[in-house]
Amino acid sequence: MFGKQTYIARRNELRRRMPKGGIVVLIGNGEAPRNYFDNAYGFRQDSTFLYYFGLQNANLVGVIDLDNERDILFGDDYTVDDIIWMGPQPSVKELAESVGVGESAPFVAARDCVQAAMRGGRKVHYLVPYRGEGVLLMSKLTGIKTSEHYNHYSTDLAINVAAMREVKSAEEIEEMERAFEIGYAMHTTAMRLTKPGVGERMIAGAMEGVTHQLGDGVSFHSIVSQHGETLHNHSHDGVCESGRLLLVDAGGETVNNYCSDHTRTFPVSGKFSPLQRDIYNVVLHAHDEVLRIAKPGMYTDLHNASYKALAEGLIGLGLMRGNAEEAVAAGAVRLFMPHGLGHGLGMDVHDCEAMGERGMADYGAMLARADEIDTCIIRERWRLRPGTVLTDEPGIYFIPAYIEQWKAEKRCEEFINYSKLESLYNFGGIRIEDDLLITESGNTMLGGDKHIPVTVEEIEAFMAEN
Ligand code: GLY
Ligand code: MN
Repeated sequence: MFGKQTYIARRNELRRRMPKGGIVVLIGNGEAPRNYFDNAYGFRQDSTFLYYFGLQNANLVGVIDLDNERDILFGDDYTVDDIIWMGPQPSVKELAESVGVGESAPFVAARDCVQAAMRGGRKVHYLVPYRGEGVLLMSKLTGIKTSEHYNHYSTDLAINVAAMREVKSAEEIEEMERAFEIGYAMHTTAMRLTKPGVGERMIAGAMEGVTHQLGDGVSFHSIVSQHGETLHNHSHDGVCESGRLLLVDAGGETVNNYCSDHTRTFPVSGKFSPLQRDIYNVVLHAHDEVLRIAKPGMYTDLHNASYKALAEGLIGLGLMRGNAEEAVAAGAVRLFMPHGLGHGLGMDVHDCEAMGERGMADYGAMLARADEIDTCIIRERWRLRPGTVLTDEPGIYFIPAYIEQWKAEKRCEEFINYSKLESLYNFGGIRIEDDLLITESGNTMLGGDKHIPVTVEEIEAFMAEN
């Protein structure tokens, strides 16, 4: 947790940005049962609640009054029964005081507070909940049917929260640097352990153990697979085979829940084949090109720059043909990289995505206001600001089903050498990912002078020495 002034200042800034005449209601997460009530997944607080209220306890609701300088925390004190099983906890009043919140009340009073605001004709601003329990709670508080939240959530709140969260303060950047250290330890652990005959599960398990030693666990399901062509491959069932590439896309969270997200792709044997090296270097060139040019105001330009660098490289290898810029304009590079260049990174590994294009929200309401949104909520219109952290994660994947589909549809035939792709159906995929902090004049990679081995030479040397 940061000092209480941080949370007071954030709530005041939100109050300043939001329209008058209402309240903001932020629900914290509850415990999420795995297979029965008392056996829950590791607790993860809602990131927006954490951003404004800083508390890691379950079952809290925070209210920010937009017309008065009043914040209220709702929650229930531990009973003796709770203390027997879970130990003593500060009272809700003490929790509130620890983050500069002046008022507190029992959980049930949250409903009365929200209902009173609604009866008084005040707007109740809330974000679309993404967990079933959150949907039910929000309905209980507002009286709005569970199926109706999409019609009532606050686009004003989503826009302002994203604008604030995506620009990191100095103390948040320090947290992001701590998250980098966790990512570094994870990925070097994976590289160290990889050799023929070792199970992907063993590598994933050892690497994830590091996140629990150094922080609060993984920031998303680790991808550890020799089938890197499957973009989010969560199976760890393979056994490392000489000659194949292992793709590791993984990150950890600090104890304050700031995330890292890195990808490295490296040869199981410790040595790239000539073809693997050539394709790897095309991806690395695209990654480095983004690093070279990323600065405030950009995002789509970065995505296109990475596509152009990939097209140039793939043309050089004879897998594509024609003019690189025209190939990008025709959409041909999508066959090899069917995903965006990157995403925001912060307290969520895809920062603020619960509010954005990939979130649960009915995106139509956002699009109606697209002209005034330039945060990560609408990625095509995203304008990076100093203090934003984003991932730089180009890739080249050979996805047989996707190639076959394009080929059958004769898509972009003038740019793609389909006849040469068949021999690569067993190649897999390569992705390289680092985390960039946008500065006033450009960007720096998180980690400063330190980086996870990334060039062919660095990876081969690291794997030989370890
Ligand atoms: N690292 C997983 C993702 O970016 O989707
Ligand atoms: Mn990523």
